[in-house]
Amino acid sequence: KGQTLIIVVISFWKSKEILEAAMDTKIIKIDTADPDLSVLSEAANFIKAGELVAFPTETVYGLGANALEAKAVEKIFRAKGRPQDNPLIVHVSSIEMARGLISQDLDRYSNIVELLWPGPVTLIFRKNELISQAVTAGLQSVGIRLPANPVALKLIELSGVPIAAPSANLSGKPSPTSEEHVLSDMEGKIACIILSGDVLFGLESTIVDLSGSKPALLRPGPVDVERIKELLPELVVPPFVEAREEYAGLALSPGLKYRHYSPDVPLVLIEGNSGEVVSRAGILARRSKSILLCSEEYSEFYPVHIKKVVLGSRNDLYRVASNLFRALRNEENRNYSQIIAESFPENGIGLAIMNRLRKAASRIERV
Ligand code: TXA
Ligand code: MG
Repeated sequence: KGQTLIIVVISFWKSKEILEAAMDTKIIKIDTADPDLSVLSEAANFIKAGELVAFPTETVYGLGANALEAKAVEKIFRAKGRPQDNPLIVHVSSIEMARGLISQDLDRYSNIVELLWPGPVTLIFRKNELISQAVTAGLQSVGIRLPANPVALKLIELSGVPIAAPSANLSGKPSPTSEEHVLSDMEGKIACIILSGDVLFGLESTIVDLSGSKPALLRPGPVDVERIKELLPELVVPPFVEAREEYAGLALSPGLKYRHYSPDVPLVLIEGNSGEVVSRAGILARRSKSILLCSEEYSEFYPVHIKKVVLGSRNDLYRVASNLFRALRNEENRNYSQIIAESFPENGIGLAIMNRLRKAASRIERV
C-alpha cells in the first residue's frame, strides 16, 4: 500500500513537472541600439496580462512582472525557486514613476537620483501602499532602479507599469549575462524572453539604502563607491567580506545572507598579494583537476598544463567583471573537480568582483 502511495505521489510530481515545463515561451530578438517598438509591445502585452518576461538591462538580464499585481509577482518566486523572504527590485522608466511608489521625499535626494539614474544603481526607499508585500517580502522599504538599457526602458514604458524584476537566473545560479544563460534557465518556464546579446556590465546593480537614518551601501556594483561617497559623505560601507545580516546596527539586504552564484563545482578563492596568490593558486591547481580563473598579467606564470580562463587585465576591471559570471557558469567547469580563482584589487568595480567571488567561494584562502 505504502509503495502504491509513493508511486502515485511521484507520478503526480512528474506530471506537474511536465505541465510546468510545457509552457510555450515566446522568444523575441531585439536590437538594443534601435529597439523595434512593435515587437517590444508584444512583450509588454505579456506584462499587462500578468505574465513573466525576461528582459535585458545594462547589468544582467531581469525576470519581470507587473510590480502592482501581487499574483504576477508571485510567479517570479515560483519560476526562479527563490526564497520568499528575498525582496525584488522594482524597475521604473522615469523619476516620476519612482516618486509614485514611495512615501519619502525624493527631492531630498535629487542630486543623487539625477546623477545615478538612469543607470546600474538601485535605491531603497520607504514604500507606499501601491507596493505589496509580495514585492518587498514583508519589508516596509522598496528597492527601485531606473535602468539605462533602452530595451528595458521601452518595455516599462509600453507596459505602463513599474516592473518588479530579480536577476533572471534560477535561484542559486550566477546571474545571466548572455542569451544562452537566460534561455537555459527560463525557456519553458515563463511566457516571454527578450534577447539582445550580452549585457554591458555583467554584474548586478549597486544597492544604496536611503530608507533609514543613515545611507548605507547594501551591495557593491558597477558604480564606484567613492563616487557615491562624494554625494553621500555619511554613507555606511560595511566590509563585504562575508555574508552578514547586520552591520553597525543596520539590517542589511536580505539577499546578502544567501550564498548566490554557486558554480557546479567548488570554488577556492585565493586572497593576498600577487606573488603569494600566484604561487598558492599554482600549487592547488596542479594538485587536482582544476580550472583556474586568472588575470592576463599572471596567466603566464602558471604551469602550462593547467586549464586557464583569463578574465581580463587587472587594469581593466570592467572587462573582468563582464567575464566573471560567464566563467562561473561555464559548462566546462563540470569536467574539473575544482575552480581556483585569483583575487582582484578592490577599487572601483573590483569591490563588486570580490564580493561576488567571495559569495561563490566554498573556501577562501588568505595567503
Ligand atoms: O542589476 C540588478 O540589480 C538586477 C537587474 C535585473 O536589475 N537585479 C537583481 O535583482 O540583481 P536580485 O533580486 O537578484 O537582487 C536584488 C537584491 C537582493 O539581494 C535583495 O535582497 C535586495 O536587492 N533588495 C531588494 N529590495 C530590498 C529592500 N527593500 N531592502 C533591502 N534589500 C533589498
Ligand atoms: Mg539575483
